[in-house]
Amino acid sequence: MQVVIKPNAAAVAEYGAAIFIRQITQKPNSVLGLATGSTPVALYQQLINAYQNRKLSFSQIKTFNLDEYLGLAAEHPQSYRYFMQQQLFNHLDIKPENTAVPAGSAADPLKACQDYEQQILNAGGIDLQLLGLGRNGHIGFNEPSSGLRSRTRIKTLTKETIADNARFFSADEYQPHLSITMGIGTILDARKVVLLATGESKAAAVTAMIEGPLSASCPASALQLHQNAVVVLDEAAASQL
Ligand code: GLP
Repeated sequence: MQVVIKPNAAAVAEYGAAIFIRQITQKPNSVLGLATGSTPVALYQQLINAYQNRKLSFSQIKTFNLDEYLGLAAEHPQSYRYFMQQQLFNHLDIKPENTAVPAGSAADPLKACQDYEQQILNAGGIDLQLLGLGRNGHIGFNEPSSGLRSRTRIKTLTKETIADNARFFSADEYQPHLSITMGIGTILDARKVVLLATGESKAAAVTAMIEGPLSASCPASALQLHQNAVVVLDEAAASQL
């Protein structure tokens, strides 16, 4: 695991974006794994800028998002599909049919999980996977206790994660307690992984991920097993290393 420490969140986004820009330049038909949350937003803005400056085209790119709330339709403003449309896809020349997010409102969610794995395989696997980090060490929605070889499945969110994400929901709005998430095994299959973490609130999880034992109690520690993983931190997130 390569650890890169930058002075602030803007520099983290810039470093992460450069890895994505290099990947897309070298392989214009790359398969990208994408993440939601507030951390990747600045990186996505840099990709949009690169597209608008005609430095990059997404016309052959395929994407797979890590996770989605179970029970939210794609049009729901809190769904991760909606987030991706607003923060990235609507601003690029990417083909809508080439952007995949787990089907949170599928009639048969168990089948949707299996189908998602198959779709990733059919695309040739993920070349570059972007990750954020939960305060409890989760990646995607792989909460503590997730199997280290798990595949895409339904996962119950912990109280901590529900509380952390409550800021996105208004008081009278339904907040799902279940999700569909790529598994840790699915994430580890990506050929390269880039995890971004910023701010002091992530410092304990960062330390457990990098210095702690390989353990399902810190799902991100599974990245210790990956041959080509880069962790990009700001000084605050790195402060307990
Ligand atoms: C959610 C997402 C994760 C993300 C995490 C951290 O739980 N499922 O993929 O990494 O939030 O979010 P943030 O970047 O807002 O701290």
